[in-house]
Amino acid sequence: MTHTASRRTVLLATGATALAVGCSDNDDNGGSASATTSSAAVGDARVLARTADVPVGGGKIFKDEKVVVTQPTEGDFKAFSAVCTHQGCTVASVADGTINCPCHRSSFKISDGAPTGGPATTPLPAERITVQGDSIVLA
Ligand code: FES
Repeated sequence: MTHTASRRTVLLATGATALAVGCSDNDDNGGSASATTSSAAVGDARVLARTADVPVGGGKIFKDEKVVVTQPTEGDFKAFSAVCTHQGCTVASVADGTINCPCHRSSFKISDGAPTGGPATTPLPAERITVQGDSIVLA
């Protein structure tokens, strides 16, 4: 009797192991599929910067991408075109709450890109970014 019971236990355990293996195969497949998807997403999007690179109350200009990323308040990241809406120079600095163009001294608010001085009358267009962990990704 004891013998039979222990044999059943073994069989049940084997069945459970088979099920567990089946499940873990599925998990592995799901895992690789989502890993592929997320690496493709990172491949399409571009990591611009680390969040720590963008000072609170300031910003950082990415000349190659022609994008300026700002952090008006802690944890709130914005991105704008770095091409001045006056005559198309690339903005050159972020200071005292504004993004500044060196050509004719236009300035734009770091919070919404609105012109605050100089000849430009149109805001810097917003760019789409997402923050993924400590990475700022250009969409
Ligand atoms: S091009 Fe920027 S102020 Fe004129």
